[in-house]
Amino acid sequence: AFEPPKPLIVKELEPEPDDGHKKVTILFGTQTGTAEGFAKALAEEGKARYEKATFKIIDLDDYAADDDEYEEKLKKESLVLFFVATYGDGEPTDNAARFYKWFTEGNERGEWLQNVKFGVFGLGNKQYEHFNKIAKVLDETLEQQGAKRLVPLGLGDDDQCIEDDFTAWRESVWPELDQLLRDEHDATAVSTPYTAAVLEYRVAFYDPENAPLEDKNWSNANGHAIHDAQHPCRSNVAVRKELHTPASDRSCTHLEFDIASTGLTYETGDHVGVYCENLDEVVEEALQLLNLSPDTYFSIHSDKEDGTPLSGSSLLPPFPPCSLRTALTRYADLLSSPKKSALLALAAHATHPTDADRLTHLASPAGKDEYAQWIVANQKSLLEVMAEFQSARPPLGVFFAAVAPRLQPRYYSISSSPRMAPSRIHVTCALVLEKTPGGRLHKGVCSTWMKNSVPLEKSHECSWAPIFVRQSNFKLPKDTQVPIIMIGPGTGLAPFRGFLQERLALKEAGAELGSSILFFGCRNSKMDYIYKDELNNFVESGALSELIVAFSREGPTKQYVQHKMLEKASEIWNIISQGGYIYVCGDAKGMARDVHRTLHTIVQEQGSLDSSKAESMVKNLQTTGRYLRDVW
Ligand code: 2AM
Repeated sequence: AFEPPKPLIVKELEPEPDDGHKKVTILFGTQTGTAEGFAKALAEEGKARYEKATFKIIDLDDYAADDDEYEEKLKKESLVLFFVATYGDGEPTDNAARFYKWFTEGNERGEWLQNVKFGVFGLGNKQYEHFNKIAKVLDETLEQQGAKRLVPLGLGDDDQCIEDDFTAWRESVWPELDQLLRDEHDATAVSTPYTAAVLEYRVAFYDPENAPLEDKNWSNANGHAIHDAQHPCRSNVAVRKELHTPASDRSCTHLEFDIASTGLTYETGDHVGVYCENLDEVVEEALQLLNLSPDTYFSIHSDKEDGTPLSGSSLLPPFPPCSLRTALTRYADLLSSPKKSALLALAAHATHPTDADRLTHLASPAGKDEYAQWIVANQKSLLEVMAEFQSARPPLGVFFAAVAPRLQPRYYSISSSPRMAPSRIHVTCALVLEKTPGGRLHKGVCSTWMKNSVPLEKSHECSWAPIFVRQSNFKLPKDTQVPIIMIGPGTGLAPFRGFLQERLALKEAGAELGSSILFFGCRNSKMDYIYKDELNNFVESGALSELIVAFSREGPTKQYVQHKMLEKASEIWNIISQGGYIYVCGDAKGMARDVHRTLHTIVQEQGSLDSSKAESMVKNLQTTGRYLRDVW
């Protein structure tokens, strides 16, 4: 069966601590592997520092099977470090969601964690409204429930250099751990950059003649009853359409995945995760740089041939045996900027001293500004950086274990409803195509793949991808008569197309519908007014009561959805007062923030409230699930 990148199974490497031993538990909530990588790096260094300490790294989901077990285990801990990321609209990662819900809703437990010492490092991005919300709430809740804070909360900011934030936080952890864990025999430890942890991995090569058939890795219903990020399901592209008119200089793809006979199911408002492929031209460039045969058939492993784990295993999850071409196409993130750890791995294999020195410098504290400028600000891709350091050619195992991160699935708000399209998952995806500040033309990996994909209606050799469904709480009210307001400019329209399909199906089945307003925004009615006819049909059929469109580039001044909302302030207020729901979907950094402010203004003015009353009313809408956001 297809095995996509998955977190390494953390085996219990160490014996249960006996008398002299002290145990440190490191729990992580990760989406893309960064939190897990930090957890491992900290554990590696900790093991080197303290002879009599045991470090256990555990995925939050694997820590306990249910709430009772969380409780039982947590209360027995003495030292716990958390690495937790914040996603989307201030949400935990999938693997932390169950723990987070249980833990933060447990006020009645009192101060039950008095024997536990803790530290929290958060992974977030300052560009977003709820910067590191999960880490902040976890840190506070741990204290409320009696645990003792060992070090101040670490706030990693991915907008700057999160590796540096981690390094700084880690430096604050050692003095505390020294007091608790140091043994008289431990040498005075000197901190090394976290990335210097020894990476061990094993590469197995196969005779190409006898190599297993790759396509077998991706059967349709892949034998798993549940499809998730670890067990996606191959599905064909049935339909692909361009949604912009030829007059537009941008592109937006409508794609339909065929899920008939795959076992995949979804609900209106859910997300689909898509494992896409790198473009051929990108793979070719990587092959040239690595100077290896595309047919090299190999696998990488974090354990020895006899199954015993390697001591300091790779930070990155392995993948099934395949050819180098396939590995570069499906598993390697080649276009993101390299992390500092990747630069160090490259440096270790640079044959030219100037290359090695400069790479090491870029990853060092002294090279911090240069890294921020030359790599991050310029959005230099891994391939661009490798091209600049011609002598730095790591062997294949190092490349996949330490240099190129795993290509991550991309998430899209599903733009259909299973009531209308039970055997299809529709996606609405804007093409990412931009010049980077460094001068490279960046083609978004998944959006370009979708735009170029070959649908089944055109060819039997159609495109396909491993996909899976992620549930969301972005759902229509259970009572169909509750009025709703939907705000979704650009591809933020996607889930509302699903909502409207659902409402139409409900209406046709005889349900009474409450009123509904959709605020949509685009640049120009003749270029990017996507699904125009469908939206008008929804109005005609009564699934949508009112369609309001803001065209931002038609008149002398910009018209955005929030301007249209202000014009409809009293109507919006009425819907809120009647117990209605408000939904926002789209860009979090600009649009959703502006719309939020506008909503606040409307509530304040229409309700004749002061600013703090208005704020608590909007908060209340949020906490009661009547103001929902699906933002990215
Ligand atoms: P613009 O590109 O002309 O700035 C879909 O992308 C639509 O959302 C476009 O019309 C875009 O306008 C608009 N948009 C851009 N920033 C926005 C913001 N902060 N709030 C609301 N709409 C915005």
